[in-house]
Amino acid sequence: MLVEENKSLKKLSTFGCDETCHYFTSIDSNHSLLEAINWCKEKNKPYLILGAGSNVLFTKSFEGLVLKMGITGIKKTNETATEIFLTVGAGENWHHFVSYCVQKSWGGIENLSLIPGTVGASPIQNIGAYGVEVKEVIASVCAFDTHTNDWITLQNSDCAFEYRDSIFKKNKNRYIITSVDFVLKKQAILRTDYGAIKDVLHEKGIKKPNLNDLSSAIIQIRTSKLPDPSILGNAGSFFKNPTISKSIFEKLYTQFPQMMAYPISDNAYKIAAGWLIEQCGWKGIRKGMVGCYEKQSLVLVNYGQATGKEILAFSEEIIQSVLKKFNVLLEREVNVL
Ligand code: EPU
Repeated sequence: MLVEENKSLKKLSTFGCDETCHYFTSIDSNHSLLEAINWCKEKNKPYLILGAGSNVLFTKSFEGLVLKMGITGIKKTNETATEIFLTVGAGENWHHFVSYCVQKSWGGIENLSLIPGTVGASPIQNIGAYGVEVKEVIASVCAFDTHTNDWITLQNSDCAFEYRDSIFKKNKNRYIITSVDFVLKKQAILRTDYGAIKDVLHEKGIKKPNLNDLSSAIIQIRTSKLPDPSILGNAGSFFKNPTISKSIFEKLYTQFPQMMAYPISDNAYKIAAGWLIEQCGWKGIRKGMVGCYEKQSLVLVNYGQATGKEILAFSEEIIQSVLKKFNVLLEREVNVL
């Protein structure tokens, strides 16, 4: 096992903050994962699993071993008349996997095109975009359970999937995901109901889109609204869209009839955090090297040399101003370390 010391995490996370970790190693198999975990136990060091680093903010150096998940591979394990079953290594690039499936005309994840990150990270926060969440296509998740020292397979219903949440996120560091089993459809049911998708398809004059048209439309929407982390450091949505009760929604709505919100159950509404933040005047605001992205205020950006602490402080200012104006508490979506 090759362990590097005092490695910079700047290139290992999409925010590009220049923090370091004491120890670093790459994982390319279940065997090397066990070796690394045992190394930590022997030396009594904490560990941190890193995928593409697209949902973390490092605010200080990590005093343990960073394990870069690199188990790759897309394997077809079964096929029926209507479905395809795939097992995908946790270290596979998510968008590469989506493109592979779109190319094969296997439907289910095309709306999740261009989401940064790895396949292994996708169940952790149940990634979602344009009306689809990854939980809809996950059959099961294979992981190493560090509490019981066992390899386990969690079925979809065991994963406690919710909006940007799962058993993996609730039990931080307990499960190390090594592969994910997906079920995709041979006859894709395209989900084009999201407003922006309809607009792009209409602009392009596409009346009967195929998987590739839909994936391309989503790539176009994302690239027009979200900053490319290889150019401008960011971790996608920094905050979650908050859920509020119907009674609070009704009160707020009389005060702010323009509020972007939609019901998610009989008694709860989800509000667009981007709208709340924009209303507080943050959209496009820059303070030093940190900013609130000009085209989507849910996204915070690093203009170059921002430290994780500066980004965190900026996010706290946003949380406080939204709380003051709307009495709604925003929660961070990004993992702050
Ligand atoms: N809005 C504003 N101002 C803004 C941003 C948004 O008024 O600065 C309004 C929009 O006009 C729209 C509504 O808020 O009416 C929703 O905006 P958008 O469609 O851009 O989606 P979102 O709720 O802001 C969520 C996800 C994104 C995902 C999009 C598309 C979360 C936290 N974010 O954003 O996911 O791509 O929907 O489905 O749920 C991510 O998680 O990193 C991410 C980018």
